[in-house]
Amino acid sequence: MQVVKYMFQPHGDERGQLVALEEFNDIPFKIKRVYYMYDTGEGVVRGNHAHKSLEQILICIHGSCKIKLDNGTEQKVVPLEKPYEGLYVANNMWREMYDFSSDAVLMVLASELYDENDYIRDYNEFIDFIKK
Ligand code: TYD
Repeated sequence: MQVVKYMFQPHGDERGQLVALEEFNDIPFKIKRVYYMYDTGEGVVRGNHAHKSLEQILICIHGSCKIKLDNGTEQKVVPLEKPYEGLYVANNMWREMYDFSSDAVLMVLASELYDENDYIRDYNEFIDFIKK
């Protein structure tokens, strides 16, 4: 399984760092939605679902967390610990987010608006879906 990580270009000077993300330039899709998670409790596992068509870029803009990706045959764990790195998560990919540091802010850029019908929340259903 190929893990696609984007390294964004920080604009740094004596004042600090700034990262700018533009759809189609830095992000491979039109950004229709942005959401972020923070105050995630110790030991919490989020995600546990796949999407039928949604594409996302996950950026831990503060703190750190881990992302487990599962394409139905292979699993990969990707640590996210830099505000200038983004993990591309395609559709048809089971994902779990865990090991959040107490200060973690995980921001997600998404290619579509929120649509509960795009979720697959049952792992066996996910396996059946990708076989089709
Ligand atoms: P949930 O899907 O449980 O988050 P995750 O799978 O990433 O742990 O979402 C938590 C709540 O937030 C749920 O009530 C749905 C709502 N929500 C929105 O309203 N819009 C969104 O874009 C997302 C991602 C969630």
